[in-house]
Amino acid sequence: MAQDVNREHWGSRVGFILAAAGSAVGLGNIWRFPYITGQNGGAAFVLVYLALVFIIGFSVMLAEMSIGRKAQLNAVGSFQKLRGGMWPLIGWMGVAAGFIILSFYAVIGGWTIKYFIHTFTGLMADAAGGKAGDVFVGFITDTVQVVIYQAAFMLVTTWVVFRGIGEGIERYCKILMPALFIILLVLIGRSVTLEGAEKGLEFYLRPDFSKITGGTIAAALGQAFFSLSLGMGCMITYGSYVDRKTALPSAAIQVCFLDTMVAVLAGLAIFPAVFAFGVDAGAGPGLTFVTLPSVFAQMPGAMTWSGLFFALLFIAALTSAISLLEVVSAYFIDKGWSRAQAAWIMGILIFALGIPSAMSLAGAPKVAGKDFLDAMDFISSNVLLPLGGVFISLFVGWFWTSEAKQEVTNDGSLSFGFMGLWIWICRIVAPAAILYIFYTGLKW
Ligand code: TRP
Repeated sequence: MAQDVNREHWGSRVGFILAAAGSAVGLGNIWRFPYITGQNGGAAFVLVYLALVFIIGFSVMLAEMSIGRKAQLNAVGSFQKLRGGMWPLIGWMGVAAGFIILSFYAVIGGWTIKYFIHTFTGLMADAAGGKAGDVFVGFITDTVQVVIYQAAFMLVTTWVVFRGIGEGIERYCKILMPALFIILLVLIGRSVTLEGAEKGLEFYLRPDFSKITGGTIAAALGQAFFSLSLGMGCMITYGSYVDRKTALPSAAIQVCFLDTMVAVLAGLAIFPAVFAFGVDAGAGPGLTFVTLPSVFAQMPGAMTWSGLFFALLFIAALTSAISLLEVVSAYFIDKGWSRAQAAWIMGILIFALGIPSAMSLAGAPKVAGKDFLDAMDFISSNVLLPLGGVFISLFVGWFWTSEAKQEVTNDGSLSFGFMGLWIWICRIVAPAAILYIFYTGLKW
């Protein structure tokens, strides 16, 4: 119990939910989800995605939260304390994944700052003239600029983590998450009332099941894992700051729900506008930074809409980046470092690892033929996260089962109706499904 007293904790249940939702809601929801949906056929993909989030995503999230809350330690320390042996390796993989993901995530986070500022300094005029693509390429190949924005993004992220759980992460997420939600609703209101919006709504909301293939399912599960911040101990770390009274199953379901709602709503803000102006919905990663500025530029009040959108993207990216840095910092803090040392030293090292990613947008360096940024994304999202997810599920399903049951019911004081189902999903369904995406996703 001494540990419980010394450890920082969330000030409230809402604070925890918003911080965890802040971690989950990120570039994955607003930048990646809409374009993956666009490439995979719209509504049918969304339905597959929903099923996977609430069956597998929820189960792994609850597994992570219960491990963290029980141990009251970081991702590595939790496994060490609960079982020892080889298990802490999962935590190590998680800390490494956090380090790597944040290194390139901050590069793209920097783009959101650039695009927010540039909205008011010429982006709209260029985009109206059909030059949004040139602006984008011009920017990402200007390494010095990209690194400056990356540094700015890392600075804000590190500052919040340095401030701590209650005074930093919780406080900022409690302001930023509602702000994000309001901006999103305003954007949807504008988008669905544009002339020609129906075509976008139809593409997005009417399922065409012929579009569902093995590849669609793998893409949906990979997206679910990344979007829910699973597989690297992020929810173990956030769970370790939860008090013993909070009900974990309802917290996990609420975080899954909020994350999914923001992803689905982001599509609702984006597709009607994209179709109303007749641009390509399957445009891929460029959808956000090339297609959308062109769409905004054609709308009355272009700067307002573009400014709101990139502010939204920045907020989403920031609250996720904070969680990535917290996973890494928590490990060193539990080892006895001060929070200031852990946050600033790791922040600087992660920034340094991100520089090759920032440079690779201009063509070099490459890793075995892939851009450095893509290589980092591949190693973390396609290798470390799925492997982490498999072992976390197996841990709860087979090796730590009775303690897990005790933990999710707060030592028997609350009931959890899906206990049997949850355990079996952790035992078999989740590991098998994740291994399948791991295998299909493993093409370099
Ligand atoms: N979930 C975030 C997003 O959607 C990214 C993220 C934050 C993440 N923490 C994570 C992804 C941990 C995987 C693991 O953008």
